[in-house]
Amino acid sequence: MIPFNKPLLIGTEQEYIAECLTNNKLSGDGAFTKSVNKELEEMTGTAKALLTTSCTHALEMSSLLLDIEPGDEVIMSSFTFVSTANPFSLRGAKIIFVDIRPDTMNLDESKIESAITNKTKAIVPVHYAGVGCAMEVIQALAAPKGIAVIEDAAQCIGASYQGEKLGTIGDMGAFSFHDTKNLQCGEGGAILLNNPKYIERAEIIREKGTNRSKFLRGEIDKYSWVDKGSSYLPSELNAAFLLAQLKEVELVTQTRRALWQKYWDHLKPLADQGRIELPHVPDGCYHNGHIFYIKCSNIDERQDLITYLKSNQVYSVFHYIPLHSARAGKILGEFSGNDVYTTKESERLLRLPMFFELTNDEVEKVCQLIFAFYEGQ
Ligand SMILES: Cc1ncc(COP(=O)(O)O)c(C=O)c1O
Repeated sequence: MIPFNKPLLIGTEQEYIAECLTNNKLSGDGAFTKSVNKELEEMTGTAKALLTTSCTHALEMSSLLLDIEPGDEVIMSSFTFVSTANPFSLRGAKIIFVDIRPDTMNLDESKIESAITNKTKAIVPVHYAGVGCAMEVIQALAAPKGIAVIEDAAQCIGASYQGEKLGTIGDMGAFSFHDTKNLQCGEGGAILLNNPKYIERAEIIREKGTNRSKFLRGEIDKYSWVDKGSSYLPSELNAAFLLAQLKEVELVTQTRRALWQKYWDHLKPLADQGRIELPHVPDGCYHNGHIFYIKCSNIDERQDLITYLKSNQVYSVFHYIPLHSARAGKILGEFSGNDVYTTKESERLLRLPMFFELTNDEVEKVCQLIFAFYEGQ
């Protein structure tokens, strides 16, 4: 049986957890959380990284930091997870969906300008599969109009764009450490505050609207309620678990990239015959092997292939149901321009098994099955 995902266990997590237990501090912002924040800052070059309970919550923090309110508009692609939209919908913003590029499944930068109005508060590019959006174009559209750019870098740990780590290019970025991601701690995330003007308030919002972080640093002698906020800091146990994995980010990234390349090389002849399409990584994008997908001809062929693989004990999955076609998306959002590619391309996309412990033999087996499926078509 080849599962679709196996949550990463790098092997040193138990040592870190054991040390955490001896510290006698399990609530947030202890030594392990501080080390994780520091690792993330050193690894990415961001001005400030703060560990959060999830990527969803990191994006919620960004929405609070921007003071998003009813009447505001936030631009994003519809080919994404609900967590890209919810943090802004929660604060009353209308979600404006823009079509994707078929080659990367990312927001089509050429279609953003016509979606911008005087109500636009933020653009939220999602770097699908750890492959960067055209950030220089997005930044050039946003900056002169005072529109914030929030990178949904949920899938991007270890990936970069034009030499800059994904998540560090916009005003803020958000990572996920959910157990489906390259590095994980069950549930977890981080907000990267690339624009230093957001740092002080981010610490407050993350600590229930209090200035407790300043108090803990000895900068003030008591702390109190100073702003709106919530509880976005995870337990030290999660931080300890994640720290073990963060130390091995290079190994994880290189291993996944090698598996990704193996899939690509094996399946190339099938792509050359025009039976499937393979992912495209534009120049300047350094991906992290988070996802390997193929594109079938259409949704029926994809379903047949999923069933065929499953009957051979190989588990593959599709995503996303475009947000604008979902019940909530119809109420909370609106599509700008035409849906030329979002629905059509999402219906063809199939994700193949991809995880750190996947072996070359298993990749070969999956590819052989895909060949056999198309030979029988
Ligand atoms: C693009 C994207 N954004 C946000 C999230 C949410 O991440 P989390 O589960 O850490 O909240 C995910 C999770 O799969 C995602 O793929």
